[in-house]
Amino acid sequence: MYDRFNRHINYLRISVTDRCNLRCTYCMPAEGIQLLRHEDILTFDEITDVVKTAAEMGVTKVRLTGGEPLVRRGIVDLVKMIAAIPGIEDLSMTTNGILLGQYAFRLKEAGLHRINVSLDTLDPVKYNKITRTGNVEMVLKGLLAAKQAGLHPIKLNCVVGAMNDEGDAIMVKQFGEENGFQVRFIRQMDLASGEFYVVEGGDGGNCHICNRLRMTSSGLIKPCLFDAIGFSVRELGPREAILQAIDHKPSCGTVNLKEQFYNIGG
Ligand code: 5AD
Ligand code: SF4
Repeated sequence: MYDRFNRHINYLRISVTDRCNLRCTYCMPAEGIQLLRHEDILTFDEITDVVKTAAEMGVTKVRLTGGEPLVRRGIVDLVKMIAAIPGIEDLSMTTNGILLGQYAFRLKEAGLHRINVSLDTLDPVKYNKITRTGNVEMVLKGLLAAKQAGLHPIKLNCVVGAMNDEGDAIMVKQFGEENGFQVRFIRQMDLASGEFYVVEGGDGGNCHICNRLRMTSSGLIKPCLFDAIGFSVRELGPREAILQAIDHKPSCGTVNLKEQFYNIGG
C-alpha cells in the first residue's frame, strides 16, 4: 500500500493493552491512568482479523506493544495466532522486559522473531526511580533468557533525558556491546507539544520515510503517533479503517493531545 505521499506502508504496530506493570516517569502519571474497560479492548480474534486484512493489503511487519504487552493475559496465544498469518514476515515486540524471564522461551516457540527492550540505566536505584516500581535485575535476567531462547536481534531502547545521564547511556551501550544487543537512544518526547525526534539507529520520527500504521488496544487505526486522528475497526471494519488511515496519513507529525505513549505504544 502507498499513501498520498508515495510512502510504502508495510508496518503495523499494535498496542495489545493500555496496562503496564511499571510507571515510567516520562510515560505515566504516578497515580496511574484511567484504564479502558475490558469490553473496549479488542479480543484476540478481532486483532487477528485486523492483521489478516492488513497482510492482504501489504503489511509484512507487525510489532506488539502496550502499555506492556506481556501483561495481557494469553499473549503467547496471540503471538501464535499472528505468526500463523500468511504474509507476516517479521513479528516483533516492544517490552519493558520485566516478565521476559518467564516468557522468552514460550514467545520464541510461538513464533515471535525479535524484541526491543526498554532499558534506560543499569543502576538499580535509578532504574527504580525512573520506572517508579521496577527492579532492573528482572530485566537483565529477562534479556539473558531472550538471548538463550534465540530471539534475534535484541535491541535496547534507552530514553535519555529522563533521570539518567550520559554515564547511564554509556553503560547501557557497553552492556549492549558485551551481549550482542543493539542499543538505540531515544530522546524524551512529548506528544502534546509535538516535540519529537528521529530515533537514533531506527526509523521512528523520520516522517518522510514513515512506513507505519498503529492500532490502539481499543481498535483505532492511527496513521501517525503525533496526530490525534484514528479510525475504528469495530465501526468501519478492518479494511475500511486501514484504507482511511492510509488516506489520512499526514506528511509529517504535529501534535497529539488525545493519546499518550501508554495507549499508543511509543
Ligand atoms: N518519549 C520517548 N519515548 C517514550 N517511550 C515512552 N514514553 C516516551 C517518551 N515520553 C518509549 C520508550 C519505551 C517505549 C515503550 O516507549 O522508548 O521503550
Ligand atoms: Fe510501562 Fe513502557 Fe510506559 Fe514504562 S514506558 S510505564 S514500561 S508502557
